Amino acid sequence: MESIIFSSQIATDLERYLKSKSFSKLGLIADSNTYQACYPLVQETLPPHEHFQFEAGEINKNLDTCKDIWQWMTDCGFDRKSLIINLGGGVTGDMGGFCASTYKRGVKFINIPTSLLSQVDASVGGKLGIDFNGFKNHIGVFNEPETVIISDAFLKTLPLPELRSGYAEVIKHGLIKNENYFRSLKLHNWETQAWKDIIEKSVYIKKDVVNKDPKEEGLRKILNFGHTVGHAVESFYLDTERHLLHGEAIAIGMIAEAYLSHQHIRLPKDELDTIIETLLGIFGKVEIPKEDLDAIAQLCFQDKKNDGKTINCSLLKKIGECDYNIAVSLDDIIESLNFYNAQHP
Ligand SMILES: NC(=O)c1ccc[n+]([C@@H]2O[C@H](COP(=O)([O-])OP(=O)(O)OC[C@H]3O[C@@H](n4cnc5c(N)ncnc54)[C@H](O)[C@@H]3O)[C@@H](O)[C@H]2O)c1
Ligand SMILES: [Zn+2]
Repeated sequence: MESIIFSSQIATDLERYLKSKSFSKLGLIADSNTYQACYPLVQETLPPHEHFQFEAGEINKNLDTCKDIWQWMTDCGFDRKSLIINLGGGVTGDMGGFCASTYKRGVKFINIPTSLLSQVDASVGGKLGIDFNGFKNHIGVFNEPETVIISDAFLKTLPLPELRSGYAEVIKHGLIKNENYFRSLKLHNWETQAWKDIIEKSVYIKKDVVNKDPKEEGLRKILNFGHTVGHAVESFYLDTERHLLHGEAIAIGMIAEAYLSHQHIRLPKDELDTIIETLLGIFGKVEIPKEDLDAIAQLCFQDKKNDGKTINCSLLKKIGECDYNIAVSLDDIIESLNFYNAQHP
């Protein structure tokens, strides 16, 4: 398992870390936004290094950008003793880590996640990869960074919708594993809270689950709460003007799946109501057109090993406790989306 440094002095902590390591060459990968907003926070303290920048956005988490990265590594003469720093959100971490892991059968890398989502989710757990021909995270490997350095200082420049998107995963962590944590999260003025504490608690929850089941054979599936329906909604609106950020779609998914939890494994009604109130309070309500429901529900069955009639969901027994491999039907999913649509913010 990777080591994680929670930093309150990013430049100093990074400098100290790099001084403790020996490497032949140092390279830094950032996207166009984190190059502008985050690189200046560490640039001065870095020893001589090469850097690579790619255009920000999930659309560039692909093989073409990987080719450019591998070419850059080749041109710079990186060898097996080089060290790569990935400075950015989940896109940079997933792709930079993948390129480092495959270049000359693997060079070492560290992650400095700069979005809330990547700090509490993507940077932990060793999943690396890229999208391929329309399939998300289709090509990749499991590999651990040397370390992850997390600093909430980067969040100051993160656009608010991106911050809120990451907050959905924070809420999920409370819902699946820790009721007190969930109840302590801010509903109003949520953007002004002690992010450092929140990040640490969320990372601890994710790490604990991943440690117990690194390859997602069982328990790790609880991290998918909200994601069966959420991913389907996200994919369905991907290239449309109703496009949703990941966390916005997961918020919808969590309401739908909390409803399924109530129906299938008796999540208490008052807890269902609390979850709905919390999520609608933060994320508002998105109207999902009735005519889209069937196609969205169908998407829940994609890419999953099942007979096309049932799908396995991770559902809540109560706030703070999640169960996995619970079979639901296509009609159940449609019903849960109708339930979401019937809510009032
Ligand atoms: N490996 C995993 O376990 C895992 C888990 C969850 C998500 N992911 C992946 O992570 C990606 C989503 O992560 P993301 O939301 O961080 O996406 P992202 O990397 O695209 O970052 C979101 C946006 O915020 C910008 N940004 C990031 N940090 C910034 C900062 N400090 N200041 C200003 N702008 C900043 C980025 O440039 C980008 O425009 C997806 O590709 C997803 O598949 C991976
Ligand atoms: Zn997610």
